[in-house]
Amino acid sequence: MRRPLIAGNWKMNLNLAQMRALVAGIRAGCDPFGSVEIAVCPPTVYLFPIAEVIADSPIRLGAQDLYYEAQGAFTGEVSAAMVAETGARYAIIGHSERRHTIGHHEDDRMINLKVKAALAAGLTPILCVGETLEEREAGQAAEVLTFQISAALSGVKLASPERLVVAYEPVWAIGTGHNATPEQAQQAHAHLRSRLHAGVGKVAEEVRILYGGSVKPDNAGPIMTQRDVDGGLIGGASLKVDSFLAIIQATAENAAG
Ligand code: PGA
Repeated sequence: MRRPLIAGNWKMNLNLAQMRALVAGIRAGCDPFGSVEIAVCPPTVYLFPIAEVIADSPIRLGAQDLYYEAQGAFTGEVSAAMVAETGARYAIIGHSERRHTIGHHEDDRMINLKVKAALAAGLTPILCVGETLEEREAGQAAEVLTFQISAALSGVKLASPERLVVAYEPVWAIGTGHNATPEQAQQAHAHLRSRLHAGVGKVAEEVRILYGGSVKPDNAGPIMTQRDVDGGLIGGASLKVDSFLAIIQATAENAAG
């Protein structure tokens, strides 16, 4: 049994008052959906205040990124241990907005170091992988996923399945309104699970693989029914109480389990 996880990636949106209101709304409405684990990932500077707001609630905290070095002269960076000290359980790593945007261009080696740093600090990485539109159209989607997941997990030993979450996030579906079809998602997730098997062994069966990319209340249900889809990483639709809760509800009702 893989317990579905719905994680909200707030990216660089909202202010503190709006975040507090959002979390209060999620908290007030999430009780009926206890079968689904819920996490929110605010910008780094808001991890501490949001940790306070969700204390004594089932909502978990995640960071959107971290740096792989343990300490030292790295102006502007935040280490995995610092993130862990806020009470965060998760850290998104390798999001396409960090792999592909100007000024970041994180490569697979850096993502591998970040995964290892997160694990060493006791955090659970939400490792994002996904092909671009160009790669999909060239028939390279499976190959890209194979490469990204093996590179990110190179040298990683998983003590237990809870210590890793993978997110399939086709780059062409993020923030575009064009979600992958449930069949496309299942195909990619099954492929990722088989690659995970090759990398970390049998424990892969219990590792959760989330889908991310334009998940909305009206398309969440059919995606979540897919056998290898174990929840979602939600961007735009996680910024409003109603849409985030509706996705959580659709997941509670549809998750394959
Ligand atoms: P989106 O973002 O839901 O706005 O497409 C998803 C993500 O980037 O994790």
